[in-house]
Order: sequence, then structure tokens, then C-alpha cells
Amino acid sequence: MIDFSLSEDLLEIQARARKFAQEEILPIAAEYDRKAEVPPGIADKAKAAGLMNVTIPKQYGGMGYGALESAIIAEELGAACSGISITILVNGLALTPIQLFGTEEQKRKFLCPATEGAKLASFCLTERDAGSDASSLKTTALPDGDDFVINGQKCFITSGSMAEVMTVFALTDPSRGPRGVSAIVVPADTPGIHVTKIEDKMGQRASDTVELTFEDVRVPQENLLGKPGRGFPIALQTLDFGRSGVAALSVGVARAALEYAIARAKERHQFGAPILANQGISFMLADMATKVEAARLLTWQAAWFADHGQKVTDKSAMAKCYASDTAMEVTTDAVQIFGGYGYMKDYPVEKLMRDAKLLQIYEGTNQIQRMVIARQLGK
Ligand code: CAA
Repeated sequence: MIDFSLSEDLLEIQARARKFAQEEILPIAAEYDRKAEVPPGIADKAKAAGLMNVTIPKQYGGMGYGALESAIIAEELGAACSGISITILVNGLALTPIQLFGTEEQKRKFLCPATEGAKLASFCLTERDAGSDASSLKTTALPDGDDFVINGQKCFITSGSMAEVMTVFALTDPSRGPRGVSAIVVPADTPGIHVTKIEDKMGQRASDTVELTFEDVRVPQENLLGKPGRGFPIALQTLDFGRSGVAALSVGVARAALEYAIARAKERHQFGAPILANQGISFMLADMATKVEAARLLTWQAAWFADHGQKVTDKSAMAKCYASDTAMEVTTDAVQIFGGYGYMKDYPVEKLMRDAKLLQIYEGTNQIQRMVIARQLGK
């Protein structure tokens, strides 16, 4: 049965996330975008509002929500500021490998402390020469006695300088190439982890994006998640969930741009009438609104399949690709509707346009999403 209405519980979560986003994020979004800093205490506030680690089961300190609840929250946060929100949301991506592949003992050991307070977590996969081709990574985690010794560099790591726990993908057996990659939990205070570059980004500037160098970082082999050599499929399965989160964030960014554009088209008068009276503008708004709805439906569909235990590789790639392309188009059109004012930092839409660009790139570029979808079609 298909039902597009939200349950009482979902409406409560949506209202709570919207209130938090509009009161705690939106008013500081432009300031922290300018400063290129994560607002201090924002994760604590999100945690207090029940909006952190939302898909982590309750027994490990999370909210125990499903993918649909998570998507509804991400849309609301994204509508306020995707940059600030990614700090809150990326914990889900970083902790998912532990949730899905950790033993009961590992979940107690790593997830419970990670969800205490509002600790941040990082997902350390990407390297300078292993971006889209993520399995060609070079970081090693060589066995030495009971430990792994990690050496290498990871780049574009969200929350990398602030995280307290990291899931790191590294070669435990370099002779096996991609099948020698393993997933390892690394406490961020382990000696030998250095922040070697802080990125100065075009958009989503209120998030922490860094390069990390691992120099003889020693962690016990018991921090290995799943089987040795199965780290790359663990990363890809994790991204199957993460990508529907990026889709939801994108819907939020696009929705915000649409709402600003509608308000502007009604209030801005030229030639003696609101510019909304021009078909050139109203048809643009109609297309923008249609795409936002379609993006939300694809996103909720991917979340629904995830919540019903089905494989979502293609569904989440479709949602991420379509929703982030929509965010780019809708924010660009919103700037166009604002005209010269839209290009100025006095108005909110230029930031949304800069922020949207990253949605088409992280968690797999949209070219990679199309590759993932095409491969699934061939199966
Ligand atoms: N789930 C589980 N396993 C999967 C899988 C999935 N969705 N997709 C593939 N696999 C398995 C395959 O079955 C295969 O297993 P075997 O070794 O047993 O054969 C293995 O994983 C390798 O699969 P492929 O041969 O298909 O892998 P590939 O090298 O051709 O690459 C790719 C696939 C889709 C291109 C992948 O490299 C990819 O997604 N690249 C993009 C990387 C990416 O998204 N990076 C994001 C970084 S995180 C980030 O951006 C977060 C942030 O900071 C905000």
C-alpha cells in the first residue's frame, strides 16, 4: 500500500528538526559561512534536540530512527545550512560501519562512547589519488604483533580535525589490492594522527574539511571491523545509506532556494507588477517546485527500501544524483530570479548555490552515481 501522509511520529520529528534548524542554524548560517568555521557547541545542541546519531540503535546511545526519519531530519537541517548540518549528519556515515559490521563487543566499546555527549566521528576513505576510484587507496595498516600500524594520507575528511573516533579504510594486505583493504576503528587521540591541511572551500564553508596524515599510528587488531580484506565492500555498503542522506540534504537546500525565490517573485515589482506575473518567472518556479517534489519522492523511496531491509545501491544513487542535480539547478535559478541582488552576499541564495555544488561531488560524484545505477541496470 502506498501512503504519502506522515505519521504522528514523523510529523513530530519533522517539527522538532524544523524548529532546531530555523532557530539554531539559520540565524548563524551566513556568519559561519563567512568565517569558515563550525559553530561551537552546535553538535551539543543537536544532540540535546535528539538530532545526532539518529540511526544508531538506542541501546548504543543513538535515537534508533530509521532511514525515513533520518531523511526528514536531513531535509530540515539542509534547508537551514548544509555546511553546518554536515557536521551533525556525517556522524551517521562514520559510525555506520561499526553499527553494521561491528561485533556486539565492538559496538559497546566504540559506539557507546561515540554517542556520549556530542562527540564527532569521521569517515576516512578518500585519498589524493583515490577519489572516485576509491579502491586504489594507498594507506597501509600493516599487522605488527597484536596491532595494525597505519601509515598514509586521507584527504577531504569531514570533521577530520574535530573527530574523536574515525573509521579508516587501509590496506592490511597490499599484495591483494582492493581485496586487501580493511575497515578499522581508530580513536582520534592515537599518537601519529596529524592534520596536515585545512581546506578553504567554495561552499559548505561552516564544516571542517581536512587532510589527515597517519604516521605509525598503532591500534589493536581487535579494532578491525568485519573480515580482513572486506573493507571496500563495507565502505560501499555504508555509502549506500549515506547517499540517501545527501539526497535529503539536497532536497532541503533546493526547497530553501525555491521558497526564497517564490517570496522574491511576489514582492519584487518591475514594469508595475510583481515579477511572478511574468510567465518567464512563473514557469521557472513551476519547474523548480516539480523537481523538488520529485527529488523528495526519490529520497523517501530510497529510505523506505532501506527501512524495509532491501538493497538500496541503485535507489540511493538515483536519489543522490537527482536530488543534488536538482539542488544545483534550483539554487542557480533562484539566483537568476533574484537577478543582480541574488549574486550579492546580502541575500541568501548565492550561498545556497555555492553549497549545492558540493552535493554533486561528495559521497561519490554524480558521474559515479550514474555509473553505479548503470551497473545495477546491467545486473
Ligand atoms: N555494497 C556492498 N558491496 C559492494 C557494493 C555495495 N553497494 N558495490 C560493490 N560492492 C562489492 C563488489 O561486489 C566487489 O566485491 P568483491 O571484491 O567480492 O568482488 C567490491 O565491492 C568491489 O566492487 P566493484 O568492483 O564494483 O568496485 P569498483 O572499484 O569498480 O568501484 C565504485 C566501484 C562505485 C566506482 C566505487 O569506487 C565508488 O563508489 N567510488 C566513489 C567513492 C565515494 O563515494 N567516495 C565518497 C567518500 S566519503 C564522503 O565524501 C563523505 C563526506 O566527507 C561528506
